[in-house]
Amino acid sequence: MAAPSYSRLNKRSGVLNNMNPTNPNNIAQKKEEPSAIGVGTVEEIKKSKRVTAVIKERDIVVFHHEGIFYAMDLRCYHAGGPLNLGDIEDINGQPCIVCPWHKYKIALATGEGFYQSIDPKSPSTMPKWCSKGVKQRTHNVSVRNGIVYVTLSNMGISYDSDYYSSEKYKKTMKLVQKK
Ligand code: FES
Repeated sequence: MAAPSYSRLNKRSGVLNNMNPTNPNNIAQKKEEPSAIGVGTVEEIKKSKRVTAVIKERDIVVFHHEGIFYAMDLRCYHAGGPLNLGDIEDINGQPCIVCPWHKYKIALATGEGFYQSIDPKSPSTMPKWCSKGVKQRTHNVSVRNGIVYVTLSNMGISYDSDYYSSEKYKKTMKLVQKK
């Protein structure tokens, strides 16, 4: 039987690294269940407010905002911007990450994209927030014994952000970096 895999948070990058499961120093980061991967302690993530991790070769980001943990794909569904570097704003009554590249707003809880629009037929000139639907893949977060775990969401449903976790995108980025 294959040995279980464990992960460790790289404190400098906030990225999880695979590590030797027999190391007794790694207790805090061990798996909770087969699909749930520890990404850090509650205290660490509360302090840093966000961490990035790699789960099954997928880059994700975990936010702690107003007492709640949220997880989603790291790269923005629009053009792959790094959401871990965005600010969180309240949009339409929901906490949203604002992508640092082109300022798209994405709901932390649902991955829904928002944009502002003015109805030319409406007497009001105030723009309203409208939904584009769910664009960014979110993941499930659980907390047990002071550790924050992430379980990847159902890959049977596709979202726009999936492209930035694909082999095609990774290969393209490698080619760009080589130039
Ligand atoms: S890459 Fe995120 S808004 Fe364009």
